[in-house]
Amino acid sequence: MQEQLKTIVSECIKEAEKCTKEAEILEIKAKYLGKKSELFSLLASLKDMSVEDKKKYGSLLNKIKQELEQKINDCLEKINSKSKISFDPTLPIYEEYGSLHPITIVAKETTDILKRMGFTIVSGPEMEKEYYNFEALNIPSTHPARDMQDTYWLDNGLLLRTHTSPNQVRAMEKYGAPIKICAPGRCFRNEDLDASHENTFFQLEGMVIDENISISNLIYVMKGLLKEVFKQDVDVRLRPGFFPFVEPGFELDCSCLICHGKGCPTCKNSGWLELCPCGMIHPNVLEMSNIDTKKYTGFAFGLGLTRLAMMKYKIDDIRILNSGDLRFLKEFTGQED
Ligand code: PHE
Repeated sequence: MQEQLKTIVSECIKEAEKCTKEAEILEIKAKYLGKKSELFSLLASLKDMSVEDKKKYGSLLNKIKQELEQKINDCLEKINSKSKISFDPTLPIYEEYGSLHPITIVAKETTDILKRMGFTIVSGPEMEKEYYNFEALNIPSTHPARDMQDTYWLDNGLLLRTHTSPNQVRAMEKYGAPIKICAPGRCFRNEDLDASHENTFFQLEGMVIDENISISNLIYVMKGLLKEVFKQDVDVRLRPGFFPFVEPGFELDCSCLICHGKGCPTCKNSGWLELCPCGMIHPNVLEMSNIDTKKYTGFAFGLGLTRLAMMKYKIDDIRILNSGDLRFLKEFTGQED
């Protein structure tokens, strides 16, 4: 038996040491210590032995059993510690920061500026009622202007808001006049995608209603806002623009930031960049929201945040903004230039 035991021990140790995976070592454990192992049957045969033999072999067999168990556990531990990630605590820290999306950056910047000018930030639902998106903005169902904004109509009777202007109505309803609010948000239009068209984009709505509000107030606010956004003086000009909820309505252009008005490909040699539709709030809109039009007037604007981000960061394909491409997003740390 002595010889047999010697072979068992040496074989088991040899095989256990060769193992590189946990599964392998567990197999060895079963082979040498399991119920079908030689050692197990030797231990089982103890009961048929004489008292003397029992004493002699009993302690020997148990010693060998313990020895093999110890060996197998050691091997197992060695394998497990190798597969654990080991690192050198003295290595310098690899700093990988998350980054803000460019739209988030411009939304925060513009609303911060407006907040300093006394605007309150409000928000509304992306799934909107027809009333807020169209009717209360002086766009009845027969109005051709509804076609200007290809709308996603939903099965639940709502729609995906096509602009942030519904926030004007919600704010008037909730707070009345005088009021000074801005509302950044995501909008949706059923557009075919190309480098300059997206079906999902961001706007920043602004609205001021008070006594004696005029176009000069609108220009003053827009100039102040753009000056801070672009960190330079910008000229603005107003061209007539049509939106049913403003009268008069304008397209606000700012002097081209690239050529400073001299003419370049970005501004198509005009020296101006189209930036922001705006206007004096239509009396119908004020009346529908119970604002006293004898006392109050107001202006509103709808700054295209997506367009602003593209201009600011010189992004030439709008689709990248919604692509979730981390290589692109990583370029924006939110720390200013
Ligand atoms: N909501 C308009 C649009 O998205 C923009 C706008 C806002 C125009 C406020 C005038 C005043 O087309």
